[in-house]
Amino acid sequence: MDQAAGLRKLREDLPLIRSNVVRRTSAKIIAITSGKGGVGKTTFAVNFAISLAREGQKVLVLDGDLGLANINVILGIIPKFTLYHVLKGNKTLRDIILQIPEGIDIIPGANGYAQLADLDSISRDALIRDFSELDEYDFIIIDTGAGISSNVIALVLAADEGYIVTTPEPTSITDSYGLIKSITQRNKNFPLKVVINKARDEAEGKKVARRVIEISDKFLGVRPEELGVIYKDEDVEKSILVQKPFFINSPRSKASECMQKICKAVLENSPESLENTETSKLGGYIKKFFQISDANKVGK
Ligand SMILES: Nc1ncnc2c1ncn2[C@@H]1O[C@H](COP(=O)(O)OP(=O)(O)OP(=O)(O)O)[C@@H](O)[C@H]1O
Ligand SMILES: [Mg+2]
Repeated sequence: MDQAAGLRKLREDLPLIRSNVVRRTSAKIIAITSGKGGVGKTTFAVNFAISLAREGQKVLVLDGDLGLANINVILGIIPKFTLYHVLKGNKTLRDIILQIPEGIDIIPGANGYAQLADLDSISRDALIRDFSELDEYDFIIIDTGAGISSNVIALVLAADEGYIVTTPEPTSITDSYGLIKSITQRNKNFPLKVVINKARDEAEGKKVARRVIEISDKFLGVRPEELGVIYKDEDVEKSILVQKPFFINSPRSKASECMQKICKAVLENSPESLENTETSKLGGYIKKFFQISDANKVGK
């Protein structure tokens, strides 16, 4: 059996019971972002996606990181083709989607998103059509880079909601505030949720969440929601070393327990949508990304 066939077989063997699962008629698009780098966005995005998949959801992860494409590193995979090849016109999105044995699909980014904003209108339309064909997903998770670059902000604002990953470090808290400011200056009502990662315990995590929410309220007049807390956990570090998602490698770890709690809360708060849009959700997402990027260029 070649490697691809082996992976497919592993996927088929996964104990996913999809028959009694509520399917959404349109995907929910969530951007994972942070003010400061290295806070655990990619680790969160991948493991969150897997936890949703384990609950029977069909999940696509877009590697929107503009630096090193590090989803690949976390999963120990080397994609042959990436968004770059799609932008060059050599591949379609379907050609480059990686189906990994953990039960999620991935679009490898490899800096492709940095070039998106500069495409001409013909290439943009082709890409919107290409993205529109991917309409089978319940959740689309965008792993963005850190910081307040216009590209990151556009990737977030085009989504349905944004999760701001923050750690208890003071610099992470202030950078989260800066990011929340940049996002809500452009859209005050944009739904933001705070995830506290690498917390010593629940109490520390909650305190940090409260701090981020309170300074946002005081200085910006917006109140992001607290989504949950993930403990700093040695098992996460070990999983990174062996390039396996912690939710699979250490399912009974503290971090996995925390992730399970967040996943349950998200599913409970994501009722089946009856929305039926003309373009698919993902096509609409890219279209909105272009519009926001163009508005940013004019605003400069
Ligand atoms: N809950 C946790 N407990 C312990 N270590 C963690 C936890 N979450 C993430 N880490 C560690 O933090 C490091 C950075 O994680 P990750 O690459 O996910 O961050 P990032 O925000 O995506 O970084 P970048 O901004 O470079 O994209 C990794 O080495 C990972 O092992
Ligand atoms: Mg990352």
